Amino acid sequence: MGDSATFRLDGHVATITYNRPDALNAINAEMRRDLNDAFSRFRDDEDAWVAIVTGAGRAFCAGADLRQGAGSAGEFPGTFWEKPTLNSFESGWEIFKPVIAAVNGYCLGYGLTLASWCDFVLASDRAEFGLPEVRLGVPAIVASIRLPQRLNWADAMELLLTGERITADRAKAMGLVWRVVPHETLLDEANALAQRLLGGGPLAQRAMKEMAMRTRPMTMLEAIRFGETMRQVAGATQDAAEGFRAAAEERPPRWTGR
Ligand code: COA
Repeated sequence: MGDSATFRLDGHVATITYNRPDALNAINAEMRRDLNDAFSRFRDDEDAWVAIVTGAGRAFCAGADLRQGAGSAGEFPGTFWEKPTLNSFESGWEIFKPVIAAVNGYCLGYGLTLASWCDFVLASDRAEFGLPEVRLGVPAIVASIRLPQRLNWADAMELLLTGERITADRAKAMGLVWRVVPHETLLDEANALAQRLLGGGPLAQRAMKEMAMRTRPMTMLEAIRFGETMRQVAGATQDAAEGFRAAAEERPPRWTGR
């Protein structure tokens, strides 16, 4: 793994950082690989339960690297039409652990695509959001699919069809941003949220997030059956036994993720 995206684990909290600050964290081929590596590591590391993704310097991510042109696509196979991949940074990995975007500045193009996959978008009051693709004459793919699921139609279309940047407050009013916080407090707030999330059983959280994501296209009956199955699986874990034991003993549970 290179260093254009970094992965750090503190306790059970992973921090993934876009790390090309001189280019406002624009995504080139190397960063694309590094980000995929970082998120794969988060998915696979048994000790990583919650992730925070943020940007080094004054931007979260200014989107595709425009200087390297087609280089931003790189050799990453997911960009080739015959190999669509769900498990890539822009499409959204099949990761059911909670992910927080701590948006510290410009959040454009691919950056916004990533933020719109996160469970919580915590924004600095300096953050700006936008999808400049239409101004480059190309469609944004995943944002066109995801934003109408997450926002009101007209709000999604405002972002997709104008290509204009909006403030953190406007993004909050749209429901894209969960909370806007003073810039200096952004990472503290993200870490405080991560700690709150660690209070819940990690396997129960993953089961619920997977249910929330997978049941969308299902009928109610299929969704309930899937949920019942997940409940059986997650209910048979050591953590579920610990949760009930701790409740009976009136003490906080000690989760192990097993
Ligand atoms: N690709 C490559 N380099 C980029 C970049 C991008 N998407 N966005 C910014 N940079 C570089 C700039 O070229 C500049 O480099 P330099 O200092 O070597 O000249 C540096 O980052 C700072 O950018 P700058 O434009 O000077 O900062 P700003 O605060 O005036 O403006 C933006 C910030 C984000 C509004 C502006 O850089 C911008 O519009 N970037 C392009 C966004 C975009 O269209 N992305 C593609 C999405 S699909």
